[in-house]
Amino acid sequence: MKLNKYLKASVAALAISTGAAQAADVEVLHWWTSGGEAAALNVLKGDLEGQGIGWQDMPVAGGGGEAAMTVLRARVTAGNAPTAVQMLGFDILDWADQDALADLNETAAKEGWDDVVPDALKAFAKVDGKWVSAPVNVHSTNWVWANKAVLDANGIAAPETWEDFVAAVEALSAAGLTPIAHGGQAWQDATIFDAVVMSTGGPDFYKSAFIDLDAEALGSDTMKEAFDRMAFIRANVDDNFSGRDWNLATAMVINGEAGFQMMGDWAKGEFLNAGKVPGEDFLCFRFPGTQEQVTFNADQFALFKQGDAVGAEQAALASAILSPSFQSAFNVVKGSVPARTDVSDEAFDDCGKKGMADLAAAASSGNLFGSMAHGHAAPASVKNAIYDVVTAHFNGEYDSETAVDELVTAVEIAQ
Ligand code: GAL
Repeated sequence: MKLNKYLKASVAALAISTGAAQAADVEVLHWWTSGGEAAALNVLKGDLEGQGIGWQDMPVAGGGGEAAMTVLRARVTAGNAPTAVQMLGFDILDWADQDALADLNETAAKEGWDDVVPDALKAFAKVDGKWVSAPVNVHSTNWVWANKAVLDANGIAAPETWEDFVAAVEALSAAGLTPIAHGGQAWQDATIFDAVVMSTGGPDFYKSAFIDLDAEALGSDTMKEAFDRMAFIRANVDDNFSGRDWNLATAMVINGEAGFQMMGDWAKGEFLNAGKVPGEDFLCFRFPGTQEQVTFNADQFALFKQGDAVGAEQAALASAILSPSFQSAFNVVKGSVPARTDVSDEAFDDCGKKGMADLAAAASSGNLFGSMAHGHAAPASVKNAIYDVVTAHFNGEYDSETAVDELVTAVEIAQ
């Protein structure tokens, strides 16, 4: 009896010291650690706090979420899955396949998710008729962020074609500025590659290469041209790009040290967090030559099974995430657009309004595609194989010809 008491006390102490989630808490594993991302996350924390649900934070730094996914795998293997996990595209399907995710159908049915979440997101949120994750937003990767004063001072308008872009970059370089702010990390190189491939080859080519994984497209002259364009970009970043976090690259544009950053619209969260105004301090426009297309990634929270039933706190989290007011409040701060199609764009700034309009237009014209770099085009094994080749080329290990050959082989092996 005494021993039993002692054990209980030790377990309780351990729970406190490790920060393990209490019954009515949600433990949330995520990679939203930059200033803008943290500001957005606070909207969700606040929402849940208002409902009396505690928040156990489990941040794992690293844009794109690769490091977070590694930590998640270790946690699940140790039999200690977090309650909720930020997750992208094919990773959700993968965990659903392993029967690790809770069934959210009851909440989804009660709240009519089927009617308001678009098919492109359902493809990654519903598996075999079961809702397994709660979509938070829609981001897209084919954006350019520019410092308006820098462009104005150099007589540069937002470039619309690749040729315009080359001219703008050369003008900035001649003026002694860093034309392109970039962080040399594989997922950032790949984020640029999404847009470059779309711009170079067009939507059918993007789909053949990254979604159908067609060896002919992967090994084509068009792909070689895309790698040549990556080499041009590489030649126009600063000397300290290697390993730089994406938000520090955004800061270079914010501070006027660099002209452009090619990055998903989470970059806008950094501009807003720094008090900058779209159209006045910075510009947002689609990567030259991809004005009609959207390469998207949607953040979702996958809820891991904790027992047989969905936990009350998990249902509350899912329901909070899908509520129209949260979808507006969160995405206004994050830089993304709502995952529901029925949310008004009223509260959004001009870039957000454009993001919402572009998404709707791309979806209806067949120009909406999953982002390769952010896990919505192909499973993680293929994504990582593409990362390796793109990064090796970016760092000068391969010329474009070799990169194309390596890409074909790497994708074939990864499947
Ligand atoms: C993406 C994620 C975004 C943003 C970005 C950088 O994968 O979808 O929400 O956080 O990484 O961290």
